[in-house]
Amino acid sequence: MTPRKYLQNACILLGTLLFLYAQRASSAGEIAQGERLFQAHCAGCHGPKGEGGSGPTLAAPALVRAPTEESLIKVIAEGVPGTEMPGSRLVKEQIKQIADFVRSLGQLPPERVPGDPQRGKELYLEKGGCAQCHAINGRGGAFGPDLTEIGSLRGARYLRVALTDPEADVPKSFSVFRGDASIPENFLLVRVVTKDGRRLGGARVNEDTFSIQFRDAANRIHSFFKSDLAELHKDWGKSSMPSYRDLFSKEELDDVVAFLVSLRGGNKEN
Ligand code: HEC
Ligand code: HEC
Repeated sequence: MTPRKYLQNACILLGTLLFLYAQRASSAGEIAQGERLFQAHCAGCHGPKGEGGSGPTLAAPALVRAPTEESLIKVIAEGVPGTEMPGSRLVKEQIKQIADFVRSLGQLPPERVPGDPQRGKELYLEKGGCAQCHAINGRGGAFGPDLTEIGSLRGARYLRVALTDPEADVPKSFSVFRGDASIPENFLLVRVVTKDGRRLGGARVNEDTFSIQFRDAANRIHSFFKSDLAELHKDWGKSSMPSYRDLFSKEELDDVVAFLVSLRGGNKEN
C-alpha cells in the first residue's frame, strides 16, 4: 500500500466511524426528545416511567394493543376508540419519537408488586365478595366493570386506589355516550324517580333518546320510558363500590392488587 492509498483508507475509515457515531448520537437524541414528549403528553396516565397509572404499564416487552411498530404508532396517533386512551395531534415525526421511547421502556424490568396473587384470589372470592359485582372470564356479577383484563388496562398504583378510595378515579369515557355500557370506561350510576313515586337506581346499561336501562346492585335490569319518569339523575364520578381500606389489612391489599395485576385476559384459570 502506498502512503497515499494508506491515508485515503484511513480517511474513509475515520469518516465511517464519525458517521456511525453521529447516527447513534442522533438516535439517542431522538429518544430523549421522545421522552420529553412522553412526559408532556402521556405520563399523566401512564406514569413518568411508563410504569402505569390510570393507563396500563407500557414498560413491557409486548403490548397487547401495540405488538408491532406499526400498531404502536397507530395507537398513539388514533388512541383506542371508546376508551380513555386519546388520539393525539402530534406530527408524524413526534409520534415516531414517542414510539421509540415507549419501545425503549419495554426493556425495563416489568413492574414488581408485592403480594401473593393466589392469596389475593381467595380474598377476592371470599372476604372481599368482589365477584358479587365484578366478572372475570364471564363468572360473577355485572354491576361493576368486567375485570378479565384489568391487569393490562390499569397500573398497580391505580388498582390500589380503586380499592381504598373508589371515587378517586371512576372510569370515564371520552365519547359522550357509548351504547355498550358493559365496558368499564363508561361506568355511570343513575337514579330515577318514577311518576308513581318509586325510587330506583343502578349502573346504566343502555340509553337512547326515549328510554333508559340500568342494572341494580342485585343484578336486576330495569327499563323505563323517560316519559314515565319524574326525575332522572346521572351521577358522573360517583361510585357504589365500597372502600376496602378498613376491611383489608395492608398485606391483604397487596395480595388483592397482585391478583388484579395478574388478570390479563385469556387466562381461563382465574
Ligand atoms: C387520559 C389518559 C391517557 C393518556 C393521556 C394516554 N393514554 Fe395511553 N392508554 C390509556 C388507557 C386507559 C389505555 C388502555 C385502553 C384500553 O385498551 O382499554 C391506554 C392504552 C395505551 C397503549 C396500549 C397498551 C397495551 O398494552 O396494548 C399504548 C401503547 C398507549 N396507551 C400509549 C400512550 C402514549 C404514547 C400516550 C401519549 C402520547 C398515551 N398513551 C396517552 C390512557 C391514556
Ligand atoms: C357493590 C358492588 C361492588 C363490590 C362488592 C366491589 N366492587 Fe369494584 N367496582 C364497583 C363499581 C360500581 C365500580 C365502578 C365505579 C368505580 O370505579 O368506583 C367498581 C370499580 C372497580 C375497579 C376499577 C375498574 C376500572 O377500570 O377503573 C376495580 C379494580 C375494582 N372495582 C375491583 C374490585 C375488587 C378487587 C373488589 C373486592 C375486593 C371489588 N371491586 C368489590 C362495584 C363493586
